[in-house]
Amino acid sequence: MTIIAPSILSADFMNLGSELKKFDGAKDLWIHLDIMDGHFVPNLTFGQTVLKNISKYTNHKLDAHFMVNNPQDYLNWFQGVGLHNFTFHWEAVTHHDSFVKEIKKSIPSVGVSLNPSTPIEVIPEYLFQEIDLVLIMSVNPGFGGQSFIEGTRDKIKKLKELKQRLNTEFEIQVDGGVSDKNAKDLIQDGATNLVAGSFVFKAENGNYLDQVEKLRG
Ligand code: DX5
Ligand code: ZN
Repeated sequence: MTIIAPSILSADFMNLGSELKKFDGAKDLWIHLDIMDGHFVPNLTFGQTVLKNISKYTNHKLDAHFMVNNPQDYLNWFQGVGLHNFTFHWEAVTHHDSFVKEIKKSIPSVGVSLNPSTPIEVIPEYLFQEIDLVLIMSVNPGFGGQSFIEGTRDKIKKLKELKQRLNTEFEIQVDGGVSDKNAKDLIQDGATNLVAGSFVFKAENGNYLDQVEKLRG
C-alpha cells in the first residue's frame, strides 16, 4: 500500500499534540517533519526541542526532511528523538557517501532529496544500494500550499525504471502540491510514498484520515 506522509507544516502548531492524535490507528502512514533553517530555504520551522516531544503523541514513523545547509551538523542533535527516516538534500552536502553511512549508524532509513531542477542522474548508481528513499521535490522547498510542478513527473518515472533495472528497493517519495487530483498518476508513475500538507490539514471537511485515504490511489 502507498505510504502517505502528512506534513505537519500545515498543522495547527499551537495544538500539535491533538493534531497528531487524529492519525492514530491509520496504517501505512508516516509523520513528515519539515526542518528548515532560513538559509537553504527562506523559512524557519522547528528543531530538536519540538521533535523530541513528538514521539509522545504518535506511534507513527517519524520522517524528517532536512531543508538545511550542512545537515551533518544536525545529526547528533536528532539522534535521540526516535526518527525512522532522515532525508537530506543532495544539494546541501559534498561528501554524500560518508554522510549516508554516518546516518545509518543510528537511524534505520536514509533519504536523499532532490530539488525540482536537480536531475536524478546526480546520484551515482552504486549509492542506490545504500539509500532507502529518494524524495522528489515537486515544488521548490520552503513553503506549503504551492502548485505541483508537472515536469518533475519524468524523474519519478525514471526512478521507477532504475529501481527495476538495478533490482533494488527504495521508496520513491513525492513532496509538494500532492492532492487527490494527481495522486493516482503519481502512484502510476512510480511513487510509493506521498507527502501531503495542505491537502490533509486544510481540507474543508476537517477529517484528516478521510483526506489521507483519498490519496491511496
Ligand atoms: C515544502 C515541504 C513540504 C510541504 C508540502 O518545502 O517540504 O513537505 O509541507 O506542502 P503541500 O502538500 O501543501 O504542498
Ligand atoms: Zn517536506
